[in-house]
Amino acid sequence: MTSIHSQAGALSDGDFERIRALMRDRAALDLSLTRKVLVVSRLAQRLRQLNVPSFGDYVDFVESGRDPNELHLLVDLLTTHETYFFREPEHFEHLAKVIVPTYAGRSFRAWSAASSTGEEAYSIAMTLMSTLGLSMPWEVVGTDVSRDAVRRAARGVYRPDRLEQMPKGYIGRYCRRHGDDDSAICIVPALRSRVHFQVLNLAAPLAAVGGFDVIFLRNVLIYFDKDMRTQVLNQVCQQLNPGGWLVLGHAEIMCARPSGLRQGTSTIYRKPAMQPAHMKTRAAPSYSPVL
Ligand SMILES: C[S@@+](CC[C@H](N)C(=O)[O-])C[C@H]1O[C@@H](n2cnc3c(N)ncnc32)[C@H](O)[C@@H]1O
Repeated sequence: MTSIHSQAGALSDGDFERIRALMRDRAALDLSLTRKVLVVSRLAQRLRQLNVPSFGDYVDFVESGRDPNELHLLVDLLTTHETYFFREPEHFEHLAKVIVPTYAGRSFRAWSAASSTGEEAYSIAMTLMSTLGLSMPWEVVGTDVSRDAVRRAARGVYRPDRLEQMPKGYIGRYCRRHGDDDSAICIVPALRSRVHFQVLNLAAPLAAVGGFDVIFLRNVLIYFDKDMRTQVLNQVCQQLNPGGWLVLGHAEIMCARPSGLRQGTSTIYRKPAMQPAHMKTRAAPSYSPVL
């Protein structure tokens, strides 16, 4: 048996397994590729905050359900929220030059399916604002399993150094100083009002997220085991409108291939315009921000 030590004590193989089982059973997250040392480094501070003497006691506490928020916090701590504006910029170029022109004069809905702290959803929105403008009906929905990430995304406030990858013209148009704070920028209200965020676990049944014309599913399937990846990919594809586009991250194409879609580029797929009855999408619900 091996134990990894931190100031908060040791994480035994047994407790590591319990944490993995908890994440798998309660949040459908697969930590099999997550190293124990990472779990120790991410949880040690939380144990100190709670004054819990050992990892075993901490798992007992989460499992007891005495504070249901602790499970959400554990999910937050164990998922990686790394993201930035205009990550994989060729996707936004494709959105502007190939996808959007096919929707001229029609409403358009985009989904950032693991939106983390919002940079991906706002990058989509900036691209839509620049191509469709404000007079056209369009909206972006961002969802993530992490409550904290969703709360931060909905706030739309970032440190200026987060804007490095953003096209220069967009910074002046879509970002402004956050109040009197020189060390923070915010997304302009006209753009923010077109982007709605909500907590959603992709591994659970997707009740009424609606039909989308483009879905960005990037850097998230790595959290699931093989079966769950297929299940998540299938149910995400079901939310695509006929003729809709699926944009996968490079990490995604290494581990999953969507079926029933036509491949455009190495990472971008399109649903045929005519669908067999069993693949029909649900009607789009109207969204209101949840946080
Ligand atoms: C590395 S970030 C990717 C953010 C963005 N899509 C990008 O590519 O920059 C992965 C995000 O997936 C989220 N995530 C992990 N498991 C999830 C699940 N079961 N359902 C929804 N989101 C999940 C995490 O909370 C995290 O914010």
